[in-house]
Amino acid sequence: MFLTFEGIDGSGKSTQARLLAENLRRAGRDVILTREPGGSPGAEEIRSLVLEGDPDRWSAETEILLFTAARRDHLERTIEPALAAGKIVICDRFADSTRMYQGLSRGDLRKVVDQLHDLMIGRDPDLTLLIDMDPEIGLSRAKGRQGTEERFEDFGLDLQRKMRAGFLSLADDYRDRFRVVDGNRDMDSVARDVTDIVMQSLR
Ligand code: ADP
Ligand code: TYD
Repeated sequence: MFLTFEGIDGSGKSTQARLLAENLRRAGRDVILTREPGGSPGAEEIRSLVLEGDPDRWSAETEILLFTAARRDHLERTIEPALAAGKIVICDRFADSTRMYQGLSRGDLRKVVDQLHDLMIGRDPDLTLLIDMDPEIGLSRAKGRQGTEERFEDFGLDLQRKMRAGFLSLADDYRDRFRVVDGNRDMDSVARDVTDIVMQSLR
């Protein structure tokens, strides 16, 4: 099973991905936890290229290519081998993030994102958990983190709002694989819902 977490910056995806991996391992499942951009040595190198340095370093189109290149490497070297070995793959962000951030943040490039996805990736997750979150809270949580990576949270509240609405509409477009979880609660309550949803689809 290929499972992804999506949502705005600071919504709690990484926390929930980690808690889910722990819960599934405790239940005896073989799990790998990975993330995007990154998740393979080559893709982690591309991560630094897209998330550090001058935000205007890449054109909108080049940025789509870089995120997609990272994803292709991650898919070939990490995700597909793990799925072939019968493992559950939990990935913190995947193609839906490109549909939203590269597709909507610098003009309407959604069509290009989808075309490149069909050409070079051609696969979507079996299940996607959208952690839905109040944009202001998400932003303040994301800003509270230390580090040199910032990128989209730098664009502020308007973009966070646009991304939240975009993710909810995407969940509606891909109803078969999306589940929306209310992230505006303590982490254990959110984790309980997430684990229940995943356990049900594993049955
Ligand atoms: P994301 O991966 O979506 O950016 P994180 O899981 O890194 O989000 O969480 C962002 C910050 O918010 C972290 O400091 C984390 O400890 C905290 N956090 C995560 N979930 C919750 C929650 N349900 N309630 C309060 N704080 C949370
Ligand atoms: P991530 O490390 O998940 O950040 P956060 O924990 O703040 O949610 O992702 C880093 C940034 O990369 C985030 O701002 C969203 C962006 N991103 C894209 O723009 N396109 C993509 O395809 C992916 C996977 C991430």
